[in-house]
Amino acid sequence: MEPEQSSQSGDHYLSLKARVRALTDGETDAISLMATVACEVHHSDQRFDWTGFYRVVSPGLLKIRPYQGGHGCLVIPFDKGVCGACASTQKVQLVPDVDAFPGHIACASSTRSELVLPVFDASRSLIAVFDIDSDQPDAFGDGDAAALSEILELVFGGLS
Ligand code: SME
Repeated sequence: MEPEQSSQSGDHYLSLKARVRALTDGETDAISLMATVACEVHHSDQRFDWTGFYRVVSPGLLKIRPYQGGHGCLVIPFDKGVCGACASTQKVQLVPDVDAFPGHIACASSTRSELVLPVFDASRSLIAVFDIDSDQPDAFGDGDAAALSEILELVFGGLS
């Protein structure tokens, strides 16, 4: 599968959103949905070198769920890493330089920048975080965060 031209342009995300909508329509199994979203997002853009989910499995604890790329660490407490910061604040973490982020967890030494987004269900409860790593510095912008948040809301925002 050839990645589309690397871009933060709306066109790239419009086609990605349409593809994800078609593939996930009517599905309610969270693991199946995570696997599909991780695959389609990962292969949509050459900036994305690790793409995956960490599920809230108990208060204050994340565990790895479907992902694409090299191995990811299995367990992340809310007080650790970029993923933990996203889970504890429930806010997007847009990190242009991971070496400048206190407590960043390096699953790969090649990672230079990172984007982590909160994932909410229909009751607006945090169910997971969605993590994208790039080997390129400062790879992500507000456009990526907004478009990917829309896709996550489309897929998981109706789950009970
Ligand atoms: N970098 C993340 C850990 C997950 S690995 O990147 C897949 C963090 O600091 O939370």
